Amino acid sequence: MSADAVTVRPASAVAGTVAVPGDKSISHRYAMLAALADGISTIEHYSPGADCAATLACLQALGVRIRRPAPAVLEIEGRGLRGLQPPPAPLDAANSGTTMRLLAGVVAAHAFDSVLDGDSSLARRPMRRVIDPLIRMGASIDARDGRPPLTIHGAALHGITFKPDVPSAQVKSAVLLAGLQAKGRTVVEEPAATRDHTERALESFGAELHCEGRTIAIDGGQSLRPRTLVVPGDISSAAFWIALAAATPGARLEIVDVGLSASRTAVLDVVRRAGARIDARIDGVRDGEPVGRIHVTSAERRGFAITADEVPALIDEIPALTALGALLPEGEHMEVAGAGELRVKESDRIAGLARGFRAMGASVEEFPEGLRLTARPLTGAVVDALGDHRLAMAFAIAATGARGPSTITGASSVSVSYPGFFEELNRLAVSGDGR
Ligand code: S3P
Repeated sequence: MSADAVTVRPASAVAGTVAVPGDKSISHRYAMLAALADGISTIEHYSPGADCAATLACLQALGVRIRRPAPAVLEIEGRGLRGLQPPPAPLDAANSGTTMRLLAGVVAAHAFDSVLDGDSSLARRPMRRVIDPLIRMGASIDARDGRPPLTIHGAALHGITFKPDVPSAQVKSAVLLAGLQAKGRTVVEEPAATRDHTERALESFGAELHCEGRTIAIDGGQSLRPRTLVVPGDISSAAFWIALAAATPGARLEIVDVGLSASRTAVLDVVRRAGARIDARIDGVRDGEPVGRIHVTSAERRGFAITADEVPALIDEIPALTALGALLPEGEHMEVAGAGELRVKESDRIAGLARGFRAMGASVEEFPEGLRLTARPLTGAVVDALGDHRLAMAFAIAATGARGPSTITGASSVSVSYPGFFEELNRLAVSGDGR
């Protein structure tokens, strides 16, 4: 078996306390805003994942000086609005859609050319959703059929009013980051609420925003103050431990120092509907982000449905929730509707989840925009994560409840968001004879 395959054994008990890595979404935003601020910012508990490392490498290629006085601490020397330098080579966003889309908004306002490229997964992902508004703001952008690599000819931008077709925090953020550096006011009217970290981070760095309902307005030219910030733990990483505890009879887990922005906690409502006891407590607001702890106690385990209107607020948690569905008592159903966006994530996650959970023994019906899983006793299997970090973690969680060991191929992809995931899994889940 290749080094990229990991074997997961059935678990008989799950217990413990876990601090998850720094939030991926917030880390990207803090790094980019620090790069645009007037002075040196310090960021603690920065995500250790490869995605956020890609953002730092791109910023360095744009002339930003970054020091790492300790492993999880960064000092970023901001260059001020429109102060980045032309990159000497294409910027490599690797596997990270957030890096590419948000950075597109940043460099579009700089009067030089940048090429944004990434790996074979990113090369398949749709970019027209950021290209179109940035062109309307005054940039000129070349792409291959709306996909990477993007060649961005930056320019002096002007504000626009923009109504995205798809609810996307990445698109909203790209336009707001361009708007910060544009002339006049930029307004984004979201079709559905998405994570609000860009808005909170901009305010933390001293920018003024006007938010009303799902409309966000920013006036261009506001300079950013450097800050010292601490990134909260990533609730999307925590979702795998929440699913593990909810699915394992007798389990109790505590997740500490985790971000609890209301724009990210919809996953907790779904897990409660699935029967688990969840106690989430906000300990305080740090740098504009609510931070706290989540206690999960396994209780009843019952079928649940995720509706289309819930999807934008838990799009990254659907793989973890599908693992929970696969570990429900035999015959219970889990379904998700209106989640077509999952087909254009790091992999086609609807197809990947359906294939993987079928290989483990679940019954899965696949639809264009969702799936319906019926729980069956899981058997150990070889399952392919398709190089997608969230599929690898979802299959690993399900494997703890199978009747024999499972092997997950493409498992090294966990390093995209959670490099220590398998070590934590070994610590929290005690191997046993299965359930
Ligand atoms: C993210 C937004 C989401 C999410 C991604 C991170 C962000 O994508 O899936 O993992 O940091 O803004 P979309 O906003 O495109 O749905």
